[in-house]
Amino acid sequence: MNKLLIQGGATLNGQVRISGAKNAVLPILAATLLCEGTAIIENVPHLHDVTTTVELLGAMGVHVVIDEKLSIEVDSSTIESCIAPYHLVRTMRSSILVLGPLLARFGEAEVSLPGGCAIGSRPVNLHIKGLQDMGAEVEVKNGYIIAKAKRLKGARLVMDIVTVTGTENLMMAAALADGVTTIENAAREPEVVDLANFLIAMGAKIEGAGTDTITINGVEKLQGIRYRVLPDRIETGTYLVAAAITGGKIMVKDTAPRLLDAVIDKLREAGADVEVGDDWISLDMHGKRPKAVNIRTAPYPAFPTDMQAQFVALDTIAEGTATVVETVFENRFMHVQELQRMGADIEVEGNTAIVRGVEKLTGAPIMATDLRASASLIMAGLVAEGETEVHRIYHIDRGYEIIEEKLALLGANIRRIPV
Ligand code: EPU
Repeated sequence: MNKLLIQGGATLNGQVRISGAKNAVLPILAATLLCEGTAIIENVPHLHDVTTTVELLGAMGVHVVIDEKLSIEVDSSTIESCIAPYHLVRTMRSSILVLGPLLARFGEAEVSLPGGCAIGSRPVNLHIKGLQDMGAEVEVKNGYIIAKAKRLKGARLVMDIVTVTGTENLMMAAALADGVTTIENAAREPEVVDLANFLIAMGAKIEGAGTDTITINGVEKLQGIRYRVLPDRIETGTYLVAAAITGGKIMVKDTAPRLLDAVIDKLREAGADVEVGDDWISLDMHGKRPKAVNIRTAPYPAFPTDMQAQFVALDTIAEGTATVVETVFENRFMHVQELQRMGADIEVEGNTAIVRGVEKLTGAPIMATDLRASASLIMAGLVAEGETEVHRIYHIDRGYEIIEEKLALLGANIRRIPV
């Protein structure tokens, strides 16, 4: 297992290129199960979660070719089994995304029920209910969701809670269902829209993605295509925070600024000068200490829960006191205890953290607990006095492509060492 060693105090300066979006490529890879013919996915980030998804498809007998130029070719015609086994689902919850496509295309699916995880209990009841409303027979047995359906039928699905992968699973299932499906109270995340665009490019009939009502007119079959994944808005936001926390100046390239309105607003409130172009964002903090910013997470287009931990890190050294409210997951403050070990002054009560900015943090050995928590600890390490050791960085490799190389190119003093 590796750890990251960070010598804090460097001001970040320079340019960084953003990779394809983790949370778009994962459902898109699952959606290749729907297509007859070969799908070629471009701008695929080199991430552990992508490797796990490829392993999952491979375990089912799907033919997958990985090209060095960030593309993946998938041909699902060789599929032999519709089972997503426990050992893969356990390491990556988003494996649940194969449930809808397998059921819609092959009439059956056996997917291990994901357990709880560090950020909350994260049930998948809405995925299951939606499929049942579309006529599937679903039972949970021996820890597996076992689903069968001759052909799914279009239905009106009203989601109790806004769920990203739930919306995606049902949209994929509906793409090959008989008749019209509407998903109401659908997630509006850009990654849902990217998946819809991928499905549409394969021949699906989908309207309304990006609004809270998605209408899908089921078709008989989908054909292979070539598709480029959208840039990762959370990776983008993470590098912007990294620059802001160190008082630096950075240009983020190959990104999609229109997807980051809520995050950019908060960075400006923190005192950063932010400019945007078609595919770039520049941020200049002019060496200043950030001002504390209040955060309230909620589904898109509100402030993303996946950026909460990084902003808590920013608030720890900001001028003033910030209130951070997490409304999406019930237990997403695991980074707080580690930040406290670095000298942060944070109080958590239920889903609210009160962060009182301190003049400085001090380096410490700390442990990553989930993907975005890891990012927040690295942010803190960048600005802390002395050396910070971040352990359990396999979490970070799930969702950030070569983060230490990208940060080092921006001037951070960071390196990965084997433990
Ligand atoms: N929920 C239910 N029942 C369900 C589904 C969800 O109660 O059937 C609840 C969840 O427990 C949670 C809320 O609904 O409290 C929202 O969860 P959602 O289903 O939207 O989350 P997700 O689809 O499992 C995706 C991202 C997460 C991101 C969330 C919220 C992927 C692969 N994952 O998860 O990304 O935090 O949406 O935006 O798209 C990350 O990248 O670090 C990450 C955790």
